[in-house]
Amino acid sequence: MNFRMNRRRRLYEGKAKVLFEGPEPGTLVQYFKDDATAFNNQKKGTITGKGVLNNRISEYLMTKLGEIGVPTHFMRRLNMREQLIRKVEIIPIEVVVRNIVAGSLAKRLGIEEGTVLPRSIVEFYYKKDELGDPMVSDEHITAFGWASPHELEEIMSLALRINDYLSGLFLGIGLKLIDFKLEFGRLWDNDEMRIVLADEISPDGCRLWDVRTNEKMDKDRFRQDLGKVEEAYQEVAKRLGILPEGIIPQEIRPEASEKDE
Ligand code: TMP
Ligand code: ASP
Repeated sequence: MNFRMNRRRRLYEGKAKVLFEGPEPGTLVQYFKDDATAFNNQKKGTITGKGVLNNRISEYLMTKLGEIGVPTHFMRRLNMREQLIRKVEIIPIEVVVRNIVAGSLAKRLGIEEGTVLPRSIVEFYYKKDELGDPMVSDEHITAFGWASPHELEEIMSLALRINDYLSGLFLGIGLKLIDFKLEFGRLWDNDEMRIVLADEISPDGCRLWDVRTNEKMDKDRFRQDLGKVEEAYQEVAKRLGILPEGIIPQEIRPEASEKDE
């Protein structure tokens, strides 16, 4: 534990990240762990260097999205495992966008993995670990007041814009964006509220397949014990051009990366 981590108040610990109080009001520090879970915490493990890579990958993608006008919680990366973010009120909904059938959709509807969807599909899941994040419809979301109809409209349109942009970005580096999960939050600017993209975008919450071989390059390698898990995360970062070859593997060790840059 370094100085920075000790002096900050830990506010929340999730499965893959820890949130600390930020240096200024309205900010938080998001720390990326190497811990990985799947199937609602039933499978647990570590993916060495994942935290360092996801910190960079999420920084890169959120910055790019910011440049095309998608508001995000990301402010700046602080060091190997931490980034400064705006404190938002998280909307308790996981927004999943799908382009190609995989995962729970393949299972639930008995459709073959890899089937191209006639159009992108947006799904909502209620964020509640005890219940295993059940799928819900827009009706549940608005009836229970988790988000207003107006907020949900904004979330849908942002999610589809993000999908269009990221699909193109990944295709450019030889990866198909099969599906991914987003979280949104409310950010107040004086009296005005904005919906912003929160959490992270990384191979933990995306399915990415190599365009040529259809090889899985994401957390499914961990979920399904496919091996070469670390290598897949490294390859995604490398293709995005954010992994200088020399930094692997020494600098992504947990001990080495807790030091500030
Ligand atoms: P699914 O096919 O298991 O429903 O997952 C769809 C996408 O959402 C996939 O890219 C993985 C991501 N995801 C998460 O990030 N967190 C979760 O808890 C779940 C269930 C899926
Ligand atoms: N991250 C979720 C969990 O731990 C599910 C998943 O990604 O498969 O359970």
